[in-house]
Amino acid sequence: MSKLRIDILTLFPEYFQGPFTVSIVKRAVTKKAVDLRLHQLRDWTDDKHHTTDDVPYGGGAGMVMKPEPLTKAFAAIKRGRKKVKTIFLSPQGKPFDHAMAQRLAKEKSLLLVCGHYEGLDERVMSQIDEEVSLGDYVLTGGEPAAAVMVDAMVRFLPGVVGDRDSVEKDSFFNGLLDYPHYTRPRSYRGQDVPEVLLNGNHAHIERWRRKESLRNTFLKRPDLLKKVSLTEGDKKLLVEIEKELQG
Ligand code: ADE
Repeated sequence: MSKLRIDILTLFPEYFQGPFTVSIVKRAVTKKAVDLRLHQLRDWTDDKHHTTDDVPYGGGAGMVMKPEPLTKAFAAIKRGRKKVKTIFLSPQGKPFDHAMAQRLAKEKSLLLVCGHYEGLDERVMSQIDEEVSLGDYVLTGGEPAAAVMVDAMVRFLPGVVGDRDSVEKDSFFNGLLDYPHYTRPRSYRGQDVPEVLLNGNHAHIERWRRKESLRNTFLKRPDLLKKVSLTEGDKKLLVEIEKELQG
């Protein structure tokens, strides 16, 4: 599989200094699993002040991002390349989730456009393939959303997370929340590691983990249970859980 290229168009390339130079994202870049490129939108302005925004027609608060620098930047970044998916980050977008991270990580090339102010001039929206939101709140700009998206996507790229098993057992991979984890010491502040995890019986451990995963989801995110397809075994485990909670 060829590596994923991600171009980020932003007024603040320096924002990414932190998130892209530590931990797993840094490893993904070093291992060349991802080709991350930052672009300063002001490079595509041609006035003395490098203006990227202007007052809204019709009046009102806030500024609007001018169409010309954006169009020039899109064309320059995409030049000579076919499959570039252009994504605008905004609170009006489709909510970003596990499935979207996994889907986008399979693309060849993404252009993440970070907005500021009240948004983009509507006439550039026809050049946007998808609008993506991090959640139902307003960020000061798209940069934090782009950093989060890159972080979540690189975990799916081959060779980035050493142990594939750990990615595949993560929360949300199967639509459920994670089960609890324990490490040494065996007894900590009066709380012991559950016995089942100590006896090496893998079938019992798997059953316990599945049940605790279902319990966590039932207690913390019952909405997710409606979306996953549960096996007959899962349904039995849920009945057990509900009985335990009542008893
Ligand atoms: N820009 C501003 N708010 C945002 C949000 N919630 N998601 C993505 N980009 C944004």
